[in-house]
Amino acid sequence: MEILLLNGPNLNMLGKREPQTYGHLTLDAIVDNLSALATEAGARLQHFQSNAEHALIDRIHAAIDNVDAIIINPGAFTHTSIALRDALLSVNIPFIEVHLSNVHAREPFRHHSYLSDVAAGVILGLGALGYQLALTAALNLYQSNHP
Ligand code: DQA
Repeated sequence: MEILLLNGPNLNMLGKREPQTYGHLTLDAIVDNLSALATEAGARLQHFQSNAEHALIDRIHAAIDNVDAIIINPGAFTHTSIALRDALLSVNIPFIEVHLSNVHAREPFRHHSYLSDVAAGVILGLGALGYQLALTAALNLYQSNHP
């Protein structure tokens, strides 16, 4: 099973960026941990981070024939990007939306997501643990679709 982990803008700054909101772990540490967990479960994790909307869209398109599930933290594009929503719908790959912070406990402009209603599930407010929970969910989703 192939899982694609996507991280959007400013998530390359994890560890340095507002640690009171996003925690102290770097993105590399999160990805290394998740790759190890995926390998243990017999899956493979691909990772891509970009600060550019078009680069994320291109990466989603490239996943069409070789990815079974997507885990995505779209960063601020969550609240702005119809294009990212359309890209995810265009490849028809189930995806799980992850946010480190509880966006509903923050500014009103973070309360709306252009992705949540078409996501297989949404995990938020649990810090880096959210990525692990999303990985478990992606594995379960795949297993129930491939009995
Ligand atoms: C975020 C929440 C977004 O509102 C914010 O723009 C981010 C990170 C999160 O992981 O909590 O960049 O997606």
